[in-house]
Amino acid sequence: MTSFSRYLSIDSDDEETDDIEVFQRPYHRYSLDLPGIVTREKPSQTGGVGPKLVVAMVGLPARGKSYIVKKLKRYLTWLQYETKVFNVGNLRRNTQLIKNELTPNNHSHLFFDPDNEYAKKVREQVAMDCLDELIDWLKRGGRVGIHDATNSTAARRKKILERCQREHSFKVLFIESICNDEEVLESNMRLKLLGPDYKNMDPEEALKDFRKRVTNYEKVYETINEEEEEKNNVQYCKLINVGKKIIAHNIKGYLSSQCIFYLMNLNLVERQIWLTRHGESTDNVIGRIGGDAPLSKSGRKYGACLSRFIYTQKKLFRQKQLEKYRGFSGSSTPLPEPPERNFLVWTSILKRTVETAENFDPKEFDIMHIRFLNEIYAGLCEEMTYQEIEKSYPEEYNARKNNKLYYRYPGMGGESYLDVIHRVNPLIIELERMTDNIMVITHRVVLRILLAYFLDVEKEKVPNMDVPLHTIYCLQPKPYGTELTKWKYDDDQDCFSQIE
Ligand code: F6P
Repeated sequence: MTSFSRYLSIDSDDEETDDIEVFQRPYHRYSLDLPGIVTREKPSQTGGVGPKLVVAMVGLPARGKSYIVKKLKRYLTWLQYETKVFNVGNLRRNTQLIKNELTPNNHSHLFFDPDNEYAKKVREQVAMDCLDELIDWLKRGGRVGIHDATNSTAARRKKILERCQREHSFKVLFIESICNDEEVLESNMRLKLLGPDYKNMDPEEALKDFRKRVTNYEKVYETINEEEEEKNNVQYCKLINVGKKIIAHNIKGYLSSQCIFYLMNLNLVERQIWLTRHGESTDNVIGRIGGDAPLSKSGRKYGACLSRFIYTQKKLFRQKQLEKYRGFSGSSTPLPEPPERNFLVWTSILKRTVETAENFDPKEFDIMHIRFLNEIYAGLCEEMTYQEIEKSYPEEYNARKNNKLYYRYPGMGGESYLDVIHRVNPLIIELERMTDNIMVITHRVVLRILLAYFLDVEKEKVPNMDVPLHTIYCLQPKPYGTELTKWKYDDDQDCFSQIE
C-alpha cells in the first residue's frame, strides 16, 4: 500500500486495499473528503461526491445556535462544500394560522406552549417541511444542509433521523448547544430582541415574552440522551458554554469531524485581527510572480511605518480595554485589572514578509514565521511575468484565466487556490481559537483567502478580489459577523489613513 492510499483509508472499518481498488471503489466509502484536492488517476464512477450531511441543531432558544450555524456555514462554504441553512423560524413566520385566543400569532409565547395542541401540530409540521426542503436541496447537488431549529425533544430527533434514513447515503449530525453562563445567556436574549419576531415591539415587553417562550420550551426539553445513543446510534456533539466542554459521540467521517474540530475552537473574546500583504518587493516592481525577492526601498518604508502604526493600535486597544474595565469596576468589590492582551505577528517564511516585520519590537510582539502563509507556489511559472507565461505556456495561461479557483500550476509543488485554502485551514482554526490580537503579514493569494473566510466572500469572487499592496485590513469578530476597517498607506506623508 502506498502512503497515499493509506491516507485515503482512514475510515476505521475500511480493510486494507491496493491502489487500483482505491480509485474504483465508491468514493463515499472513504473518509478523506476535500473538494478539489484529491487528484484521481481514473474518473470517479459515482459522480465523485461524498456523502451528504444533514446537520440538525438542538437546544433551547438563546443558546447561540444561530451563531454556531452562521459560523459553520461560512467555514464549510469557504472549504468549498456547498452548504445552506434551513431556518425553521423563517418558515414559521410565513405560515398562515387559524388564529384564536390561544394562538394569536406565530411568535407570542402562547404559540410555543406545549399544551397548545394546535400550535404544537403546526410547529411540528413546519419543522418537517423545512427538513423536506433541505433534503430536496441536498438531492439537487448540495453537500451540507443545516436544520436550524430547537429540535429539543427526542421524538422530534427520531423523526429527523427516520426521514433522513429514507435517503441513500445521507448522514445526520446533531449539534446541541447547552449554555448556563448567565452573562452569555443575557447577551443572547438581548440580541434576540433585534430579530424578526421582536424588532417592532417594546423591548421590555419583548424580553418578557421571550423569557416565557424559553420557559415553555424548558417544560419539554430533553438533552440528547443515552437511549438515543443506544437505540438510534446517533452521531452528535454537545457544545457546553461556547465550547468550554465538548461531548462527542459516534462521530464518523471527515466532514463531521471537521465540523466538530472547528466548533471546539471558537471563542467570543473581543480582539483584533490585522491583515496585510508584505511591502513592495523588487519583483513586484518588475511584475514577476512568486520567487523570494527582498523589499524595494518603498517596501522597506512601508514596513517601518506599519510597525509604528500597529504599535499605536496596540496601545489604543489596551486603553479601551482599561476604560471598559474601569467602567465595570466601580462596584464595592473591584475586579482585578485585566492583563494586557498578547500581540502576535505572523509572517510567511519568504524574505518579503520577514523583512516587512523587521521593525516590530520583539519585546512588544510575539513574532513567528510560518510556511503555511507563503504565497501560492506557481511551479514552472515561478519568477515569470504574466506576459512571459502567456507567451511560453499559452494553454496554461488560458486554463488559469478560465478557472482560477481550481487551476493548479504545472510542475513540482505547483498549487491552486483550493490547495492554498486547505494549507491555510489550520491557521483559520488557530485564529478562531486564540484570544490574542494579531498582525498577519502575508501575500496576495493568502490574503484573499483569509479575507474570504472572515467576510464570507462568494467563491467565484475570491481569486479576483482587489487586495492592493500597502493596505491594512482590521477584522473584529462579533456575534453577528466580522467588522472590517481598512487603512491605506500614503507614501508621501508616510502614514496610514482609514478608507473604510
Ligand atoms: O504578484 C504578486 C503575487 O503575490 C504572486 O507572487 C502570485 O503568484 C500572484 O500575486 C497571485 O495573484 P493571482 O492569483 O491574481 O495571479
